[in-house]
Amino acid sequence: MDEAPPGINPHIPSVARMYDYYLGGKDNFRSDREAAEKVLAVVPETRQAARENRAFMQRAVRFLAERGIRQFLDIGTGLPTQGNVHEVAGPDARVLYVDNDPIVLTHARAILSGAEGVDVTQGDLRLPEAILDSDEARRLLDFDEPIAILVVAVLHFVQDSDKPEHILGRLKERMARGSHLVLSHACPNRPVESEDIASVYDLATSGIRLRDRSEITPLFDGLELVEPGLVNVAEWRPDVAELAPLQGVGDYLLGGVARKL
Ligand SMILES: C[S@@+](CC[C@H](N)C(=O)[O-])C[C@H]1O[C@@H](n2cnc3c(N)ncnc32)[C@H](O)[C@@H]1O
Repeated sequence: MDEAPPGINPHIPSVARMYDYYLGGKDNFRSDREAAEKVLAVVPETRQAARENRAFMQRAVRFLAERGIRQFLDIGTGLPTQGNVHEVAGPDARVLYVDNDPIVLTHARAILSGAEGVDVTQGDLRLPEAILDSDEARRLLDFDEPIAILVVAVLHFVQDSDKPEHILGRLKERMARGSHLVLSHACPNRPVESEDIASVYDLATSGIRLRDRSEITPLFDGLELVEPGLVNVAEWRPDVAELAPLQGVGDYLLGGVARKL
């Protein structure tokens, strides 16, 4: 992007635009590219991890759509790219996209408006009730019916002080039986990496808090993990034709899908 829309400070790296850059998108400013390059200098696998995360999200949505889930709440949706949730879920699905970054909202509204059964709203994962009770959610979603709630590659932008397990608890409470949580989360590989990455994100719109498997596993408490459980996102029900997983170089993002019984 050359010019920032009104109200957007192009000099502060945005975690949404950095992710867009990892994915090879064009919706980013110089500050985003410079910050992302610092992360790539520490973890060159970040681009592949971002692509694999995106592919995980798409496989999870397809899996759930095939099992009859017809409504999706995607929190921390990111800048629209290819294979957005409603495109994967099919034409009769209802999808509410939620993000706290105004630039995501601007782009999402421009690209997604007009699609039947799709809406976009500004919301913050740290305030789950405001999302669940928003006019858009009330209009589009029925919490008495099974729903998929996507919290994909966003919870690592929520600090411990904001109590991620409590946030997820509020979402789980409102999910009807047969609903699913789709969650992926960045994890540390080497301590030096975590510190270097954290210092880049400290200057961005959100700090980052990488969590390890023992910290991510309890986020699914109260739900039943679908096979194969919590795994490297590349290993979650992979399609045969997909990129080779990051074998031997570490788990950069763990993901899983869990069902409310
Ligand atoms: C790494 S992107 C992930 C995008 C998408 N979920 C995916 O996995 O492809 C993270 C997104 O979460 C958004 N985000 C970060 N903190 C958030 C919060 N507290 N509430 C809502 N969205 C948030 C960012 O603006 C960004 O668009």
